[in-house]
Amino acid sequence: MSVSAHVLAAIVWVGSTVVLAFAVVPFLRDPRLRPAVLELLRSTGPRLSGLGWGALAVLVTTGAFNLHARGFLTCAALTATPVTPLAAAAWAKLLGFAGIIAIHAAHDLAWGPAAAGALERDPRGLDRETVRLRCRARAAARGGMVLSVALVFAGVVIVRGWF
Ligand code: HEM
Repeated sequence: MSVSAHVLAAIVWVGSTVVLAFAVVPFLRDPRLRPAVLELLRSTGPRLSGLGWGALAVLVTTGAFNLHARGFLTCAALTATPVTPLAAAAWAKLLGFAGIIAIHAAHDLAWGPAAAGALERDPRGLDRETVRLRCRARAAARGGMVLSVALVFAGVVIVRGWF
């Protein structure tokens, strides 16, 4: 039950991030579509944000339970030497998740809305400030996505071992 909830939450989290990054946000580059995409992001933003934070809450709760069930949520297991691939994957989960929370909070609460606001004020997106805000939001979104995919790999290593 806990593993199924974890995998489903991972699907929702990674799936929604990938759809936004590859199928929605790139259309901001098209000046004709930009106003419509901005409107779409503004109006779906609160729901997407709720969905994302909900999925992250499920991931950390079920993930901690799964680590505990596998005997990995103890100081002895996490600090045993030599470091096994499983212990490394468990560390990757814990540290990577902290990184995802920090990046997602900055992007969702500050950098994403700031970039969208700048594009609304400067629809052609040529001002240096607009370029800077968009770069920062884009880097945060991409960093969070790369970390999320890395955590999928870490999960596979925990369950199936290192090939
Ligand atoms: C964005 C965050 C995360 C994503 C995308 C993610 C993804 C996944 C996926 C896809 C699996 C299944 C792997 C498989 O069956 O081969 C998995 C397993 C696992 N994950 Fe995560 N995970 C995340 C966060 C976490 C966190 C924060 C923890 C711990 C606190 C954690 C602990 C685990 C454990 C222990 C398993 C093995 C489950 C089992 O016992 O079968 N995960 N994860």
